[in-house]
Amino acid sequence: MHEVLVVIGAGGMGEAIVRRSGAGQQILLADVDEAALDRVGSALAGDGFAVTTQQVDVSSRESVAALAAAAAELGSVRSFVHTAGVSPQQAPTAAVLKVDLLGVAVSLEEFGKVVAPGGAGVVIASMAGSMTAGSLPAEMEAALASTPTDELLSLPFLHEGALSNSGAAYGIAKRANQVRVQAASADWGARGARVNSISPGVISTPMGQHELASENGVSMRAMIQSSGTGRIGTSADVAGAAAFLLGPDATFITGTDLLVDGGVVAAVRSGRIQKPTT
Ligand SMILES: NC(=O)c1ccc[n+]([C@@H]2O[C@H](COP(=O)([O-])OP(=O)(O)OC[C@H]3O[C@@H](n4cnc5c(N)ncnc54)[C@H](O)[C@@H]3O)[C@@H](O)[C@H]2O)c1
Repeated sequence: MHEVLVVIGAGGMGEAIVRRSGAGQQILLADVDEAALDRVGSALAGDGFAVTTQQVDVSSRESVAALAAAAAELGSVRSFVHTAGVSPQQAPTAAVLKVDLLGVAVSLEEFGKVVAPGGAGVVIASMAGSMTAGSLPAEMEAALASTPTDELLSLPFLHEGALSNSGAAYGIAKRANQVRVQAASADWGARGARVNSISPGVISTPMGQHELASENGVSMRAMIQSSGTGRIGTSADVAGAAAFLLGPDATFITGTDLLVDGGVVAAVRSGRIQKPTT
């Protein structure tokens, strides 16, 4: 039986994760953008990866359930990585909540039903979630963690009028990813599988470059400069962390978040730089 690696999101991080972890596995790559999916899927196949592609919209349960069923048909779902997302510069509040918050909750649930014993999942959250942690009241965090998925977007504090802008929505969505993964680790554990999140800092993918080119670019560059590493991240930095969490050295690690931000959050928490305003 084939070992299957599912990667949702064929963007910068998704492709790097396939290249780092996909050799020798049956890869199922999915994205909402069919043109991107064809382009990245063909490039990977040309480079020798065994890849099939399927369009998915992570904000639709039906679409994600169909992807999970297709993955199970291909073989034993050993690894699952959710990288799909939209940035607050690219998308309005409603889309950020549907894709970044609801989409992750749906895929944790649907892939939690098909992941193989001994398997592992990784969700890409963001350092924006780590920066939001601590500023949300405990009841809000608890609601984000435990509200049934189909009721999540009805939470009063997620109503459009309750959020100042799409940046605020993104911070809450990414914090929700972290706490949702924590909560889901019990269900994944009951199947003998693990699940963790990675919270990247500024990574030089199309999304990261788009953010740097936006009005937030100046403060983002200042954050990077004052961080412990002083550099922007690469998608290979994230792919390395994902390989660790998916692999044999992480079998005692589940329900946690790995910050891969070059030290930006540490610099904010220690007061070396100011938290950006969203
Ligand atoms: N690049 C950064 O600086 C950065 C920093 C922190 C967190 N992140 C997060 O990392 C993840 C990956 O980002 P990336 O840099 O690879 O971005 P990217 O834009 O290169 O890739 C994201 C992919 O998600 C896909 N997508 C969007 N909506 C979707 C939907 N509804 N269903 C399925 N696919 C959908 C897009 O088509 C795109 O191919 C995102 O969740 C992002 O929020 C990125």
